[in-house]
Amino acid sequence: MGRRRKPTELERIGIAIDAGLLANFDVIIGQRGYKNRSEAFRDLVRAELVTERTRLPDAPVVGTVTLVYNHHVRLLSQKLTDLQHEYHHSILSTLHVHLDHHNCLEIIVLQGTSKAVQDLASRLLATKGVNHGKLVMSTVNETL
Ligand code: NI
Repeated sequence: MGRRRKPTELERIGIAIDAGLLANFDVIIGQRGYKNRSEAFRDLVRAELVTERTRLPDAPVVGTVTLVYNHHVRLLSQKLTDLQHEYHHSILSTLHVHLDHHNCLEIIVLQGTSKAVQDLASRLLATKGVNHGKLVMSTVNETL
């Protein structure tokens, strides 16, 4: 609120917070390695901003999809490759790791509108034989 400041300018604010809630917050940020509350608080705000911005279907985003799958499942590797070729304009890079004799880990870096990235991620994650995975999105073209 108040007058608009440059993004790099620090502003001090006071927050009233329940003592128990603050104690719990301090425990968690300590476990996560934060040196002070301010940085932890800023990261919470940034996370909320990213969540809010990526909710808009047309928002430009970058994302990573992590997939773990068993490459022995019939045609699975082929299906995942076919999907990636179909969406080649949205894919910046793919990292493939052969975890063991059976399992593969793939990390796919995506770029596009929030909706396009989520649609492709959903199709990859829903492919039969993909055992685990997750999409993580972040915003681009803005200061956080
Ligand atoms: Ni592999």
